[in-house]
Amino acid sequence: MGSEPKLSVLFTRDEIEVAVNRLAAEIRRDYLTKHPILIGILKGSFMFMADLIRRLDFPLEVEFVRLSSYGRGTKSSGKIRVVHDVQSEIRGRDVLLIEDIVDTGTTAAFLLDYLSQKEPNSLKLCALTDKPARRQVPVNIDYLGFTIPDKFIAGYGIDWDERFRHLPDICFLEDEG
Ligand code: PRP
Repeated sequence: MGSEPKLSVLFTRDEIEVAVNRLAAEIRRDYLTKHPILIGILKGSFMFMADLIRRLDFPLEVEFVRLSSYGRGTKSSGKIRVVHDVQSEIRGRDVLLIEDIVDTGTTAAFLLDYLSQKEPNSLKLCALTDKPARRQVPVNIDYLGFTIPDKFIAGYGIDWDERFRHLPDICFLEDEG
């Protein structure tokens, strides 16, 4: 494992709150009367989802999906499987996919394709963070919190080797160990 990684704050909890408030306002404007289904991608989106939906004062449903994980850097070469699927009927509904980070784009692109086959009325993507330097698959992000540099980040639901999800700020690793 090497030495303990050194974490520095990239976005404070206050900056995250401002971004989540802005995203909630944008989503409210577009979905106020649509009774959307918000689908969080596990595990990384759980904290973002929890904060986002508390700011949405209109009818909506919450779902989660989980994909099989192939580990960092190898996911794009593996065959992705849905290991926890949406429970609600998607057909004809307005669906908003909630992602914590769009990195290579593999996860979001796969799920947008997978969910579109269920024939929703509309399908959009909300991502808290976007790391465009790492993109391998083009993805259109409809609602975006932050664009981030090409660094490992952790905290606010996002892990580094399954650690640091509980941190309230978004941090970056100065030393990857
Ligand atoms: C992470 C993250 C995103 C995905 C982004 O999930 O939470 O869902 O990777 O990477 P990509 O754009 O390269 O596909 P991970 O598979 O590590 O699972 P986790 O959410 O359970 O940590």
